[in-house]
Amino acid sequence: MAVPFVEGWDLVQTLGEGAYGEVQLAVNRKTEEAVAVKIVDMKRATDCPDNIKKEICINKMLSHLNIVKFYGHRKEGNIHYLFLEYCRGGELFDRIEPDVGMPEQEAQKFFQQLIAGVEYLHGLGITHRDIKPENLLLDDKDQLKISDFGLATVFRHNGRERLLNKMCGTVPYVAPELIKTRGFHAEPVDVWSCGVVLIAMLAGELPWDQPNDVCQEYCDWKESKHYLTPWKKIDAAPLALLCKILTENPSLRFTIPDIKKDRWFTKTIKKGMLGSIKRSFTPSGGSETHGLFSKHVRSDMDLSLFSHSEEKVTFSSTQPEPRTALPSWDSSSSHIDTLVQGKGISFSQPACPENMLLNSQLLGTPGSSQNPWHRLVKRMTRFFTKVDAESSYTSLKETCEKMGYVCKKCCVNQVTLSTTDRRNNKLIFKVNLVEMEERILLDFRLSKGDGLEFKRHFLKIKKKLDDIVASQKVVMSVT
Ligand code: ADE
Repeated sequence: MAVPFVEGWDLVQTLGEGAYGEVQLAVNRKTEEAVAVKIVDMKRATDCPDNIKKEICINKMLSHLNIVKFYGHRKEGNIHYLFLEYCRGGELFDRIEPDVGMPEQEAQKFFQQLIAGVEYLHGLGITHRDIKPENLLLDDKDQLKISDFGLATVFRHNGRERLLNKMCGTVPYVAPELIKTRGFHAEPVDVWSCGVVLIAMLAGELPWDQPNDVCQEYCDWKESKHYLTPWKKIDAAPLALLCKILTENPSLRFTIPDIKKDRWFTKTIKKGMLGSIKRSFTPSGGSETHGLFSKHVRSDMDLSLFSHSEEKVTFSSTQPEPRTALPSWDSSSSHIDTLVQGKGISFSQPACPENMLLNSQLLGTPGSSQNPWHRLVKRMTRFFTKVDAESSYTSLKETCEKMGYVCKKCCVNQVTLSTTDRRNNKLIFKVNLVEMEERILLDFRLSKGDGLEFKRHFLKIKKKLDDIVASQKVVMSVT
């Protein structure tokens, strides 16, 4: 996207895309400071122009280790720029192996950090309303950071709680009362979605499409059929906690103080400890598993299917006065000042393509110590090829077309692949061909659809391209 940008800063890489616009990585040319910039085009958000104001206002209230830092914002015409902490470790989603999950010790650590972040939010009277692995980012020390407050709202103000009735979130992660009930408490809904995230981390799949009685898997859960997937993959101690969190009645559901006292939550899990026989399953990859992000579209839309009423929210002047715009500011961050509105900095030309190319190439230089913003990330959806750019492109195109994908070349080094997944949902992803140290990296990114399905498709394509895939160890050394 060609946008005017702040002098001295280059937009070097797209970190994410959504209905609102996109998130870009901005890097300071001199200091190499890195900042994530959420770019919201108000022309695309005409239905709810106040949402962005609310998102900014809520962001300004927040300062916690497990929440993405907000540095400030600026507005140019119809475009809002939100400057946010850049999380080098990527999405929690990328640490989840489809149908497998991740080691229990890691899942426990991320879950503890998630609960710490949510506890902080609830303490301020804020509910996130869209907790899911793609909104949970990791920094360079693998600290979990809750991100994207686009759906967040205030549920308690001056000690007085209000019930919510707007249905928003992402269907597989929402609590049952949100689908069924007119007025519901905010906190148990966030707690429920934390429970679904925990299942995803421990089993690499989601338990159901939606938590209601039309969904067989949800009925099976309520009947305690723990011999079924995903439950059979989960050890007894975390399963006991999940039973308490995924309790249908929100007033009987575990609260955050309950979770913090739980046996599994507080237990020291040794690295590599399998826990019990249950963890030594062989990943099924069975067709009955639920994609992680099956109803992955930001689901105000999905939920409107069930809609019974619209919440009338006014984020008025009676809201708490936000704290200073730059919560954890220090002198070393002073260059980021130049990004933030009101600092009197003029705009430069649109981020220059040469710079972007240079930066993106540097970004990917394996082991480059000149690029401190760019660290190791275990992204699973990329590989180097052993052949040149043209052959890489030709092999990719021919292979994918044979496999039934619709392939479109969008620009010199990007291909869009479209298909439908096994649940008949649209699956679209982009493949960037990046030249790096005379090698070609094929970097796959999900644009639309189920994240786990995306990974499954990636693995199939990679297997078919086996004769041009270079060895793995190089791939692991780049972001
Ligand atoms: N994707 C979306 N927001 C991000 C952030 N703050 N850091 C890294 N990647 C992101």
